[in-house]
Amino acid sequence: MRVFSGVQPTGTIHIGNYLGAIKQWVELQEKNECVFCIVDLHALTVPYDPLKMRDLVLEKAIAYIAAGIDPEKSIIFIQSQVKEHAELAWLLNCVTPVGDLTRMTQYKEKAKKFKQNLNAGLLNYPILMAADILLYQTDMVPVGEDQKQHVELARTIARKFNQRFGETFKIPEVKVRKIGAKIMSLRNPAKKMSKSDEPESYISLFDEPEEIKKKIMSSVTDTGKTIKYNPSKKPGISNLLTIYSLLSDKSIEEIEAKFKNKGYADFKKSLAETVVNALEPFRRKRKELLSREVYVREIMSQGCRRAQVIAQTTMQDVRKKMGLI
Ligand code: TYM
Repeated sequence: MRVFSGVQPTGTIHIGNYLGAIKQWVELQEKNECVFCIVDLHALTVPYDPLKMRDLVLEKAIAYIAAGIDPEKSIIFIQSQVKEHAELAWLLNCVTPVGDLTRMTQYKEKAKKFKQNLNAGLLNYPILMAADILLYQTDMVPVGEDQKQHVELARTIARKFNQRFGETFKIPEVKVRKIGAKIMSLRNPAKKMSKSDEPESYISLFDEPEEIKKKIMSSVTDTGKTIKYNPSKKPGISNLLTIYSLLSDKSIEEIEAKFKNKGYADFKKSLAETVVNALEPFRRKRKELLSREVYVREIMSQGCRRAQVIAQTTMQDVRKKMGLI
């Protein structure tokens, strides 16, 4: 099966991105043909600093590898380096009703947040994402809960295109974890963990142990004392239990049993230790890669060449089907 997914280069990669998406990728690359992208074109839809973009992209390439994406097994590349993404996005623009875009939850949220900079890219964002996915004849798209709606739209666009121009695109399946698809903010468990919020609300993949401990110990929890998984009544503790479970490979029941007669402080201390230990190899690998920029760049160039071969094959077919010379 072919797997495709991506992360935006802006901000830092946090444990929400890791548990919701990247951890799945690491598992999937063992048995599938995986294509993982750093989606820099998507990042241009909100205000950004062009001088910082280059470093942010390189940082994400390092993060992918440090978190376990193996460039021998998976293709890792930068979206803007394969120009077929922008080309297909334009063509898909012409088969996508505007109404399908204005009803997207993320668009509605961002349109409110970026009232002063409501560019067309923000509206057309899911079309570029559909282009990313469809170019690679993708079978499966592992993402967090918040991206599910966009993948569903990609499916709709693919079906519509196939009906109008003949069988061209594979219809991709979305893959969302049962638990961990929506890791919540440490400061506000009613809100998803997000890289655009204050740093105390998320744990970066590369936070130092002291920062991790501080953030977890001061994380917002619920009233009461018991360590029990119940997302509607105890969203704070349930979120921490989810993180604990996914990073320790222990079931939630096991962790509940371990802390049956203990309080929040003991639980948080143990969670902090678990997170520090789980992220330690990533920190180490990142440090090593930071001094090997040429090697990381070479991986990106190789990834770009491999991605281009697949993308160009799809584009040839698309152009022909749409009547372009
Ligand atoms: P982005 O960069 O916002 O997030 C990257 C991935 O992390 C997941 N994620 C989360 N999962 C669980 N809990 C959270 N709190 C959390 N926050 C983020 C996201 O769901 C995502 O899987 N548009 C996409 C990038 C993209 C893409 C694609 C993904 C562009 N083209 C094609 C898949 C296929 C985005 O902005 O993700």
